[in-house]
Amino acid sequence: MQRSYMFAGAFVVLFVGIIVIVVVCVSSMNGWKEHNADGPKFWEQGGVYQVYPRSFGDSDGDGTGDLMGVVAHSDHLKDLGVVTVWLSPIFKSPMKDFGYDISNYMAIDPIFGTMDDFERLVASLHRNGLKVVLDFVPNHSSNLHEWFTKSEAREGNYTDYYVWAEAKDYDKNNTPIPPNNWMSEFGGSAWEWSGIRGQFYYHQFLAEQPDLNYRNEHVKEEMKNVLRFWLDKGVDGFRVDAVKYLVEAQDLNLDEPTDSDNPELLHHIFTTNQPETFQILREWRELVDKYHEKVLMVEVYSEVEDVMKYYGNQSVPLAHFPFNFFMLEALNNRSTLNGYALKDTISLWLDYMPEGKWPNWVLGNHDNGRVASRLGKDMVDALNMVVLLLPGTPVTYNGEEIGMENTFISWEDTRDPEGCRWGPDHYQEHSRDPERTPMQWNDGHMAGFTNGNNTWLPINANYQEINVAAQKNATHSHLKFYQHVTEIRQEETFKRGKVTFPTYDDSTFSFIRSLEGHPSYLAVVNVATVNRTVNLHLGANFQLPDKAEMVIHSSTSVAKETPSGSTVFLDSLTLVAGEGVLLKLPED
Ligand code: GLC
Ligand code: MG
Ligand code: CA
Repeated sequence: MQRSYMFAGAFVVLFVGIIVIVVVCVSSMNGWKEHNADGPKFWEQGGVYQVYPRSFGDSDGDGTGDLMGVVAHSDHLKDLGVVTVWLSPIFKSPMKDFGYDISNYMAIDPIFGTMDDFERLVASLHRNGLKVVLDFVPNHSSNLHEWFTKSEAREGNYTDYYVWAEAKDYDKNNTPIPPNNWMSEFGGSAWEWSGIRGQFYYHQFLAEQPDLNYRNEHVKEEMKNVLRFWLDKGVDGFRVDAVKYLVEAQDLNLDEPTDSDNPELLHHIFTTNQPETFQILREWRELVDKYHEKVLMVEVYSEVEDVMKYYGNQSVPLAHFPFNFFMLEALNNRSTLNGYALKDTISLWLDYMPEGKWPNWVLGNHDNGRVASRLGKDMVDALNMVVLLLPGTPVTYNGEEIGMENTFISWEDTRDPEGCRWGPDHYQEHSRDPERTPMQWNDGHMAGFTNGNNTWLPINANYQEINVAAQKNATHSHLKFYQHVTEIRQEETFKRGKVTFPTYDDSTFSFIRSLEGHPSYLAVVNVATVNRTVNLHLGANFQLPDKAEMVIHSSTSVAKETPSGSTVFLDSLTLVAGEGVLLKLPED
């Protein structure tokens, strides 16, 4: 008798145990943490907004944006409802790669202003309750950095500051042959011959961007000093540029294997994601953690398994997040955009992300075409809604909040080295200039960007229609929509609720955010290029209510007069092409 009770007891324990395990697994299936012990960090509380300083606001009329130009527009930043402002590089630079080639990491480039201007900018953003994140470009300096000049001259400790190698051999014209087959990201051999030193140096990007040598202790210390310098000035963290390229294989005689299908393509097993890179990132994380609440966001374009390594794990945290570029990559044009693709891209991140980490969503940046041009003007609001309302940090590139479009740039006006390299016939396939043109503030002189008569890149001719002032005054606009959604995002449900995907197919995408004791919300996107009446029950993977309440719809909607609060039926939801709507589900 007793034995069978014990047996039954053991069974109950086992059963309860299994339930607990299942519940724990299911709740961690959200793939992102519910809450921090000491409350959400600033980057978990709202969006990141990327300012490309050359193109944001020009205060001195020279046609290039500057720091005081950002100060002049700090109201806009505040009104957007974002939390963090990330500034692309503002440091002393010969501008071969527009600031991503730094010749002094602790000085402001005169084109952007002075250190006083910088301090004014930080103070002004902080006063407005915004955080400031700087671009940290550790992989390479400019070839005009004094470290490089001294290294080239083999001066003392500087000798090994860069990645130097002997020629493998000399050809019949006595031209030195590079030590291996490594290629630059911008094309051609990654090795450049220095006549002064009689050796090659390695550059993952332009020859004017020599890679620093992270096997050298002095270099590591120099870069830590750079981080401390800006942290001590009160910045709130860093976006770390091109971090996957930080360290190369020690043996510089190793060739990278070529792709069997395309011999032009190398598998970057010796130049990216090296184990030593993670150790360096770990030291930077420890350094920033000595300060109060500082963020590290890192730029890594790689396979998802490799990208995820940059989060680290629970006991060894690395970046707070690597940027999630999969939306950018997967949603590159309207023909590949469908409900399945959106769902899969979102799930990819949530499923692969290590436990307890924080997601993020990137729709655009200074290296990729504008959303409106890639995917369609009609989709701007819907996609902003998606990234703003998913769990995690949304990242917005300046101008995307008003739906700016790629600008046509003639060959004569082309500035981006990545475009110039390809010559007049092919530059347009590679140039990043179209997404870097000046911010469109109003329909006045030079779109309100500058008082001068020239700009470093031409202003898009559509500035008369697409500009901040016009969208501020309109009842319905991309800007109004963006601001409204950032407000809605303040609801507890969006901060902590879980996400599920009830209905998605070729033409429709939807997700629900829900949190115990709080209202649930259903976001629906018509990804089709035609107006449709959608039945959300069709193909739904769980039962949805019959009706819901309209909260907000795209500014392009014909249902402009469907006021928030009106009832809509989920079996016949009318949406225009590309429209997104947010609905509040009835409480059950
Ligand atoms: C990053 C930047 C890009 C730059 C490159 C080299 O990818 O985003 O603009 O050209 O690094 O620094
Ligand atoms: Mg200026
Ligand atoms: Ca490197």
